[in-house]
Amino acid sequence: METLHPMVVHFPIALLMAAWLIETLALLFQRSGWHKISLWNVGLGTLGALAAVLSGRQAMAAAKHSMEIYQVMELHERLGYVVLTLSATIAGWRLFKGDRLGRRSRWLLWGLLTCAVGLMAFSAYLGGRMVYEFGVGGSYGRSSGVEVVQ
Ligand code: HEM
Repeated sequence: METLHPMVVHFPIALLMAAWLIETLALLFQRSGWHKISLWNVGLGTLGALAAVLSGRQAMAAAKHSMEIYQVMELHERLGYVVLTLSATIAGWRLFKGDRLGRRSRWLLWGLLTCAVGLMAFSAYLGGRMVYEFGVGGSYGRSSGVEVVQ
């Protein structure tokens, strides 16, 4: 394995998705205690996104790629920066306010978290395409030159 990126990416994906689910339930069922759990998930998910961005830069430098792959990789990279910025803004705002927020602010941050998680899901799909379709960073896909006999 050339980089840490495939190991690291599971943390922001799992934590930010969990944060979204828990925050949604907290808002719908008005469970104030659940906001604290979602804040932990957003905070740790942001650290995970930072690790994914740093390891992603390393993966990109190590990856051999054509122009077609580069376009997918560049979009994946940009989405990674957007996800990190959004999650850091949400976590930072909530921590700065001691997580004492009105209902309007909570729904606004929920909207931002929904965007972050949606973009992250699309970016992860692109990451999977790079690895399993184009063979970047692995031995799968059409560019590996290996034929699988079943
Ligand atoms: C929140 C941020 C990010 C997430 C959640 C994420 C997620 C993923 C996922 C799920 C894969 C497929 C891994 C596999 O199936 O083995 C992947 C691959 C990849 N990502 Fe990211 N990524 C992020 C940020 C970045 C950034 C910022 C870059 C570039 C600067 C990048 C570059 C790559 C590259 C080159 C690959 C293919 C090779 C490899 O996995 O080593 N990623 N990413």
